Amino acid sequence: MTQRTLVILKPDAVRRGLIGEVLGRIERKAGWTIPAMELRTLDQETLEQHYGEHKGKPFYEPLMGFMASGPVVVLVVEGERVIEGVRQLAGPTDPIAAAPGSIRGDFGTIVRENLIHASDSEESAERELKIFFPGRV
Ligand code: RTP
Ligand code: MG
Repeated sequence: MTQRTLVILKPDAVRRGLIGEVLGRIERKAGWTIPAMELRTLDQETLEQHYGEHKGKPFYEPLMGFMASGPVVVLVVEGERVIEGVRQLAGPTDPIAAAPGSIRGDFGTIVRENLIHASDSEESAERELKIFFPGRV
C-alpha cells in the first residue's frame, strides 16, 4: 500500500547536524522516495495549524517556542506503508523510553526535543501535507 507522510526534522536535529543521519535512515528503506523537501523556519500560524490538537496542554507553549527556535527540514516521504514505517523509525515520543536503534532512542534525551515529527495516521498525513505543501502533493 503506497502512502505519503509528512516528516519534520525538528530544530534540535538541524542544530545538532543530524539531518544526514536521519534522512539516511529514511532513504535506506527499500523503495521509499522523497518527492518534496525544504529547509524552513516555521511561523506561529503554521505551527498552530500543525499542532492544534495539543492546544491547552501544558507542553503546548514550550513546544511552539521550540519548533520556531530554528530551521527545520520538512519533507514528504512516499512508499510502502510509510505512515507506520516512519513512526517505527522514529520510536515513541519519550526518547528515553524509545528503543536503541530508533531515531529518538539513539539521539534523544528530552521529550520535547525528540528530533522528528511524522504523521500518525492517513487522516493526519492528508491534513499535514496540505499545511506544509499546499497544492504540491
Ligand atoms: P509528533 O507529533 O511531533 O510526531 O510527536 P508524537 O506524535 O510522538 O507526540 P505528540 O503527543 O503528538 O506530541 C507532540 C510533540 O510535543 C512534544 N511533547 N512534549 N510532556 C512533554 O513535555 C511533551 N509531550 C509532547 C514532543 O516534541 C512531541 O513530539
Ligand atoms: Mg503527534
